[in-house]
Amino acid sequence: MPRVSARFGALPAYPLGDVPALKRQLRADGVDLIDLGVGDADLPPPPAAVAALTTAAADPANSRYSFQLGLVAFREEIADWMVRRFGVQVDPFEELVPVVGSKEGLFHLPLAYLDPGDIAIIPDPGYQVYLGGALFSGGEPYLVALRPENDFLIPLDDLPRDVVARAKLLYLNYPNNPTTATAPREHLQKAVDFCHRHDILIAYDNAYSEVAYGGFRPPSILEIEGARDVAVEFHSLSKTYNMTGWRVGWAVGAASAIAALTRVKTFSDTGVPFTVQHAALAALRTQGSWLPQNLAVFEARRDAAVDAFRRVGVGLSPPSATMYLWVPLPEGTASEPFARRLLLEQGVAVLPGAALGRGGEGFYRIALTVPEERLAEAIERIGRAL
Ligand SMILES: Cc1ncc(COP(=O)(O)O)c(C=O)c1O
Repeated sequence: MPRVSARFGALPAYPLGDVPALKRQLRADGVDLIDLGVGDADLPPPPAAVAALTTAAADPANSRYSFQLGLVAFREEIADWMVRRFGVQVDPFEELVPVVGSKEGLFHLPLAYLDPGDIAIIPDPGYQVYLGGALFSGGEPYLVALRPENDFLIPLDDLPRDVVARAKLLYLNYPNNPTTATAPREHLQKAVDFCHRHDILIAYDNAYSEVAYGGFRPPSILEIEGARDVAVEFHSLSKTYNMTGWRVGWAVGAASAIAALTRVKTFSDTGVPFTVQHAALAALRTQGSWLPQNLAVFEARRDAAVDAFRRVGVGLSPPSATMYLWVPLPEGTASEPFARRLLLEQGVAVLPGAALGRGGEGFYRIALTVPEERLAEAIERIGRAL
């Protein structure tokens, strides 16, 4: 067997590699496991999406390759949705491309931009695909800790000069997984101006743009003046419509970046299945009708979880977006051993902050992916472990 590549070897060891097996074993042993570890909702997708998928599957034309162009009506629907939702007008053919889940696009973008020695600035903790994309493309990830004292924003002014000089990509993700932070418009404007000045492309991960509460409407980076030339934004149907397994989203923004990403994709995938694009199109049209009741479920869970944490002596302010709580640990408690002990002794799975990068140390993330009573039960057990 040949040796694996240096790039492959540079991937960090996944610290929780044995957790799926542990969960399986605990379940087999009859433990009443409550899994709050993964951001994958227990709720169904919009019925309109299921119906559209079923109908589309009956048409043999939809069994063919979709290629990167895909379903023209889906592209047009996305462009309309961008106007309806953000007031942002984009060309459906030049300024957007469907992706096989936003993860796929986020991963492939750096293949078009990073050479050895080039830097991708990456939030830490952060969705691990940013790191994977940078490493596999041969670039250099530069991790920046997201800390509460900076409101979990990247302190752009503090980045070392040589890093900025070599940077070609800046990954931003607000509403943020895992910290649940949101970014004020001033920060986004600052990031856009910064990237103009330093010739850096922003990869704006907006997977949680629709998972927001209390009237808060997270913006698109493309609403920000000047962003059109320096940003590509990634959207996902996964969290908004409980469609994680359907693998569909889109990238939208600077035409040159969309063309580059499309070219990479041409060499690596053959498009989102037509059936799924039909379903996604139908889902986007349910924005006003189906989405509010789905968000109400998450909002009630969020409030129940915040209350339950208060009862065990952990004060949290309810996040205004995302389906997570980012919970601080007592001073000096490391997140991984805590999460492991919680799993083995209390049957509750959470995501230790350090699993998403060292910058996440001192916190753990819970996903609001089980009903309120189960959340309350899980948090009572967390209280016991604390
Ligand atoms: C921040 C963030 N971006 C992107 C994704 C991926 O979404 P998709 O299912 O569209 O690949 C996730 C999924 O957990 C996420 O948390």
